[in-house]
Amino acid sequence: MGERYMETAQTESPRVASLITSREKVAPLITVSVVGQQFMNTTDLDALSVVDCDEPVGLVTRQKFMLTLFRRYGFELYGKKRIIAIADTAPLIIHEEERLDVAMDKALERQDKDIYDEIIVVDDADRYKGYLSVKQMIMQQSTILANSVMQKEIARERARELERMSQVKSQFIANVTHELRSPVNAIIGLAEVMKISTEKGQTDRMKERLSLLTTSAINLRAIITNILDLSKIEAGKMEVFNDGFDLVPLLHEVAETARILAGGKPVDVNVTGTIGSLVILSDMVKVRQIMINLLSNAAKFTERGSITVDLTQGNGEVTISVSDTGIGIRREDGEKIFEAFGQVENAHIKQHEGTGLGLTITRNLVAMLGGRIAMSSSFGEGTTFTVTLPISPISH
Ligand SMILES: Nc1ncnc2c1ncn2[C@@H]1O[C@H](COP(=O)(O)OP(=O)(O)OP(=O)(O)O)[C@@H](O)[C@H]1O
Ligand SMILES: [Mg+2]
Repeated sequence: MGERYMETAQTESPRVASLITSREKVAPLITVSVVGQQFMNTTDLDALSVVDCDEPVGLVTRQKFMLTLFRRYGFELYGKKRIIAIADTAPLIIHEEERLDVAMDKALERQDKDIYDEIIVVDDADRYKGYLSVKQMIMQQSTILANSVMQKEIARERARELERMSQVKSQFIANVTHELRSPVNAIIGLAEVMKISTEKGQTDRMKERLSLLTTSAINLRAIITNILDLSKIEAGKMEVFNDGFDLVPLLHEVAETARILAGGKPVDVNVTGTIGSLVILSDMVKVRQIMINLLSNAAKFTERGSITVDLTQGNGEVTISVSDTGIGIRREDGEKIFEAFGQVENAHIKQHEGTGLGLTITRNLVAMLGGRIAMSSSFGEGTTFTVTLPISPISH
């Protein structure tokens, strides 16, 4: 059993014959100057085997040949001699069916000065088949090694990435389920209470409960819309519909929404910068969604002070910034907030509602419109999100 296994292993490893570099040869009686000519004419020829009627009898490597000839009086001394006189007459000769690694070991066992000499390859009848370049083999081996190391590293990196993605997905589902549960529970609870009250004929607080129920349903719809939007974006199914529209009234409209969202908090909402009108060619629904996302965040994370929407234009672009005097974002959380469910771990923020999808969607929408988004913040003092959009999509 053991022996059979060994044989299978042997057939799988590459053979010397498969890597023959060259079959170039000369007859032993050719003169040194003719060989010199041959080396001169074929600059990529590293060696020549000396072969006498199919039988290899020596090896001339370019390097050693040149060293001999360029020696003082080299040409005068050797030029007219037969090549066999200066050839290495005991080169390493290996059978074509020998394993490559065995050939390599034998080559490297030689003396230092011969270590890179070519290996002559013969067949079963000891007939000349060609030679192998040791240098080339070493280079190939090191490339193979480097590639396999690299490939392993890439595979490991991919596995880590997949692992991370699957963790993100599980986290995503866990978060979605959690986020959906609260409004759904509220709706069921309120409906139950109202049913019982109606049965008992108690109609007081009915209006209040109904409005709570509506709020929960709206909240639920917002979460579902976000999830659907994100999956549409990820599937590349979100389309852009460009049309001319005025940004100024749109910003006033979303500012009004922010005032409502800020509720009873002492927060002023202002629109500054370009007044009057500023028409751009873009996707209005998406621009509105971007602004709503930024302003709802500003309203959510600001307890007092102000929220300012500023509009400027220049260089074929419009810049809309949303600044608030809210809790701010730590420098180390700057990237995280743009990731799906990237709600910053913070006991205070945990109290806020949301899925952590708003900014992920926003960043994707901005990119779809050919724009950019940036954030700057001073923790504890406030945050500014800046969106830059092309005035018309062609100008970008
Ligand atoms: N203006 C801001 N001030 C302070 N922190 C902010 C501000 N905007 C965003 N953040 C932080 O970034 C996180 C991610 O924001 P994002 O809008 O993506 O999610 P969310 O508002 O928590 O949920 P959703 O928008 O899906 O309802 C927030 O949870 C918050 O921690
Ligand atoms: Mg948000």
